Amino acid sequence: MDSATKPAVLMVYFSYTHQTEKVMEAMAEVLRDRGCETTLARIEFTDPRYEKRFKQFPMPKPFLEVVAMIPAELRHRPAQIGIPDVVTEREYDFVFIGSPTWWLSTDIPIRSFLESDAATKVLNGKPFTGAVCCRRYWKHNLNTVRRMGTKRGGDFVDGIHFRYQGGQVRSLFSLLSFLGSGEYKERYHGVKIPPTNLQDYHLDEAREFASALGNRLVPASSSE
Ligand SMILES: Cc1cc2nc3c(=O)[nH]c(=O)nc-3n(C[C@H](O)[C@H](O)[C@H](O)COP(=O)(O)O)c2cc1C
Repeated sequence: MDSATKPAVLMVYFSYTHQTEKVMEAMAEVLRDRGCETTLARIEFTDPRYEKRFKQFPMPKPFLEVVAMIPAELRHRPAQIGIPDVVTEREYDFVFIGSPTWWLSTDIPIRSFLESDAATKVLNGKPFTGAVCCRRYWKHNLNTVRRMGTKRGGDFVDGIHFRYQGGQVRSLFSLLSFLGSGEYKERYHGVKIPPTNLQDYHLDEAREFASALGNRLVPASSSE
């Protein structure tokens, strides 16, 4: 297929600890192999109120810093973000939105993107999907992506989520341990914790999802 006939897929996402980025990259690779033209666009969180917190990793005080985002999440007001030029400088046939969960719902940067004129430009009249990375809570986030994207004129076609290991308490300990150290440890304050973040099986699921999407965007006869 030449580039004029290849379906153009925009993969727009926010990622602080690179998990969403990892799944978006894995899916982009599959879609490229399937004959799509993929463009990755990472939203920057430039709001002066929060920029410093999300510029540093690991977090010096992870519990306090995660808790400090509650009021902003509850306000549901758009924050200042940077949207890469590639998002609006051309038209795309399909849009993929990568959204980490923050406080049970869509993270502020992706929520802000979905409120933007750029989102209307890129989503209006186009099919789109969402990919959620989270410790445990994906449903409200994915529903919010669907609702907000639909409001911008998009046509939601499916979605996928990646949920990390562990129950309510231990998965939180694993997250706090990782956010505060940048390392994978076996214990947090003496309590045994499961591995956090994406595992290989999540990436396999992501590739399968992208492969099915690729089949839909590039029917077998046109990829030959
Ligand atoms: C500020 C903040 C709030 C979070 N709140 C939740 C939450 O309510 N539920 C959940 O399942 N995960 C929550 N998480 C975990 C993230 O969804 C998880 O770390 C994910 O990997 C982040 O994606 P990223 O690596 O692409 O930044 C939170 C993480 C942060 C930094």
